[in-house]
Amino acid sequence: MTDGAVPEIRLWSGEHAAAADVRLWAPDGLPEFRPGDDLAGILAAALTDDPHGLTHGDVVVLTSKVLSKTEGRIVAAPTDPDERDALRRRLVEQESVRVVARVNRTLITENRLGIVQAAAGVDGSNVDARELALLPEDPDASASALARELRRRTGVTVAVVVTDTMGRAWRTGQTDVAIGAAGLRVSIGYDGAVDRQGNELYVTDVAVADEIAAAADLVKGKLGARPVAVVRGLGHLLVGDDDDERGSPQRARDLVRDSASDLFRLGTAEALAQGRREAVPGRRSVRRFSDVDVPEESLAEAVADALTAPAPHHSAPIRFVRVAGDARARLLDALRADWETDLRADGHSGDVLTRRLSRGDLLRTCPELILPFVDDSAGAHDYPDPRRNACEETMFTVAGGAAVQSLLVALSARGLGSCWVGSTIFAAETTRRALDLPPSWRPLGAVAVGVPAEPVPPRAPRPPGDAYMSVE
Ligand SMILES: Cc1cc2nc3c(=O)[nH]c(=O)nc-3n(C[C@H](O)[C@H](O)[C@H](O)COP(=O)(O)O)c2cc1C
Repeated sequence: MTDGAVPEIRLWSGEHAAAADVRLWAPDGLPEFRPGDDLAGILAAALTDDPHGLTHGDVVVLTSKVLSKTEGRIVAAPTDPDERDALRRRLVEQESVRVVARVNRTLITENRLGIVQAAAGVDGSNVDARELALLPEDPDASASALARELRRRTGVTVAVVVTDTMGRAWRTGQTDVAIGAAGLRVSIGYDGAVDRQGNELYVTDVAVADEIAAAADLVKGKLGARPVAVVRGLGHLLVGDDDDERGSPQRARDLVRDSASDLFRLGTAEALAQGRREAVPGRRSVRRFSDVDVPEESLAEAVADALTAPAPHHSAPIRFVRVAGDARARLLDALRADWETDLRADGHSGDVLTRRLSRGDLLRTCPELILPFVDDSAGAHDYPDPRRNACEETMFTVAGGAAVQSLLVALSARGLGSCWVGSTIFAAETTRRALDLPPSWRPLGAVAVGVPAEPVPPRAPRPPGDAYMSVE
């Protein structure tokens, strides 16, 4: 179907005119390429001499290793396995801009082109035992130059796809993908197309350049010194220089998902490690909440996490009380009355008094209110002297602090904001009376909880300065 001019089939409307007959072959007899070789000249001769010839609309597919060799991206390497491995590691680091995952001894990285793959494409296969190959600097540009030169030398318009072999997430085995492309659409979006059953396709976007790369590997293989294949029958994918749809994706680079929209930007272990690192600095006091309901199970889970905080003598003295409905109004009215008495005793009145008291509104308006307590009757030791009893109380108070901070971090890890407010500490008896709680429960403040009104970015850790020292 593709003999002669490029067929006038336009897929970009979303209608898939898949070719009914596609043929592909890998010519024999190509030389072992070396730096400085005239790649276009060698290929033009080999492909036109081949019994299949070369015709308009063909796609020439070549393994990137050919470009690595002709473009001098070959590095002399020792044959000693340890030294070779050390050099390989240095090269991977040099070629990478970001480590995505470390899986056993394999490093998955992102290279300068945005390609994520094992070992940044640094490879010792199909090269001399004293060499290692790096990926071409700019495979799209190399593909473009080769397509242009092949047309100049043969008079035939072909597309070029440069391939590399990669593993896939979720699947074992490797396939070839396009890391360079020129002269063809690299993907076909079906957005808006309707299938034979009348269903509209929304997200299907077929990476045809990758499909071509994988198909070509069926005939190129890895061992048979056939680094180049020709695919015939896909002329409808070619895009000419004067094509009015030049906006369509035509570079392999267009198939690279940018890291901002990559759902799997990190490996599992790396994502977990980052989450752990950000858990503590990710918490900050949130005082503005959205109307979104706080899931009850998130509160219960966060409390369960908080109760794992350390406590003296293997005791479990921490209590959390969710205060809602009438109980919340009762408590806050009583706290406000106490506070007003204290403020008036300090000489405050009028606007100043009103302004100070309005700070308590946070606990009235927050979606959820949790009160932490330490129960001094739950495992605290009783000493014969007041000094040690006071120390014991401090120890239990400190354990309460650990549990409350754990609660705040556990809430933050579930996307919930919180603010720890001290008020009940100043009104212990009033708090217990309003909520009908035992006399041994010592309030440790109140925690306002809700879905933050605006995003809470993790904070950079605070440099320790004078707050951290060594004494030897
Ligand atoms: C025991 C305690 C009592 C607090 N009391 C209040 C309070 O009454 N009102 C308030 O807005 N914040 C209160 N906070 C929150 C602090 O103001 C807040 O932690 C501090 O400003 C640092 O901000 P960050 O939590 O975002 O790191 C209290 C914090 C603690 C630990």
